[in-house]
Amino acid sequence: MRALLATVEKIVDHDVSLLILGESGVGKNYLAEAIHACSARKEQPFVHIDCAAIPHDLFESELFGYEQGTFTDAKARKIGKLEAARGGTVYFDEIAALSTALQAKLLRAIEERKFTRLGGHQNVTFSARVITSTNVDLDALVQSGEFRRDLLYRINIVTLTIPPLRERAEDIPQLAAAFLRRSPRKGIRGFDPEALQTVIAYSWPGNVRELHNVIERAALLEESDRITVAALADRLRDGASLLTAAARDQWTLDQLEERYICEVLRQTRSNYSRAARILGINRKTLLEKRKRYGLV
Ligand SMILES: Nc1ncnc2c1ncn2[C@@H]1O[C@H](COP(=O)(O)OP(=O)(O)OP(=O)(O)O)[C@@H](O)[C@H]1O
Ligand SMILES: [Mg+2]
Repeated sequence: MRALLATVEKIVDHDVSLLILGESGVGKNYLAEAIHACSARKEQPFVHIDCAAIPHDLFESELFGYEQGTFTDAKARKIGKLEAARGGTVYFDEIAALSTALQAKLLRAIEERKFTRLGGHQNVTFSARVITSTNVDLDALVQSGEFRRDLLYRINIVTLTIPPLRERAEDIPQLAAAFLRRSPRKGIRGFDPEALQTVIAYSWPGNVRELHNVIERAALLEESDRITVAALADRLRDGASLLTAAARDQWTLDQLEERYICEVLRQTRSNYSRAARILGINRKTLLEKRKRYGLV
C-alpha cells in the first residue's frame, strides 16, 4: 500500500490516464474519488460512469449527450456525462463491461479530446481526466478479442493495483477502528483483544467492503463498550473459516495454497527461511511460488 500511495502522490496532478485494478471491495472507487479530491481538479465534477449498469443501447447518449430532435423523445438537448465532467474527472467503473463497438467510440473521444453530441455536428471539448477500473484480467480479454488493445494502451498509462485485504492484514486494525468510529452506534471504545485477533486472522474474501459491513453489524449487536467475539459474524469465528470459505467460493488448490503461503509469510513477518521451514519446502521453492502468485 505504501508503494501504491507513493505512486499516487507522484501522479495525482499529472493528467495521465489511470487504470485501477483489484478484487471486488478492495477500494477502487474509494481510491478514484480520493485521487480526484486531492488533485487540482477537485473543484470540478467527479463523474462516475458504471459501465456494467448502463444499458448498452443507452450508453452513447449517456456518454455523449444528444441534440434536440435526435430521437422522438429528444425534446431538448441533453448534456452527456463527458461534457458534464468539464475539467474534472470521469471514472469508468467496470470498463470491461463495454462492448468492443462502444470501446472504439470511447477510444476516439479520449484520443481526439473531443466528440459530438448524438445528432450534432459541433465539436465538444473533452477535458476531464480519465480513470478506469476493473476486477477482471484485461490482458486475457485482449487475447480473446473482447477488449481492444489500443484502448487498453490508452487507459493504462499508469496502473494502480490495490492488494486484497488478506495481503495487508497490518491495515486491518486501523480500518476496523475507523469503521467503528463511523458507526451510527456510539459509545463503543474499541475491540477486545480476542475479537481484534479474530478480525485480523480472517481472510476477508469480500475485502474492505466486507470488513466495513462486519464492523458496522458488530457495533449494533455489541452490548458492552468493546466489540467482543460474540458480536462478530459466525464465519469469522468458525475455526474452519478458511476451509469453509474455500469450499463455498470454490477455490482451486492453487488459490488455497496462495492464501496459506500468504498467511505464513505474514505470521513470520516475511522471514522466508522460517516460512519455508513451516511450509515444509525449501527457500528456493518458496521464492518461486511467491513469484508465481505475485506475493510481495
Ligand atoms: N482505504 C479505505 N479506507 C476507508 N474505507 C475504505 C477504504 N477502501 C475501501 N473502503 C470502503 O470499502 C467499501 C468498498 O470500497 P469500493 O466500493 O471502493 O470497492 P471497489 O474495489 O470499487 O469494489 P467493486 O469491485 O465491488 O466495485 C466502501 O464502503 C469504501 O468506502
Ligand atoms: Mg467499484
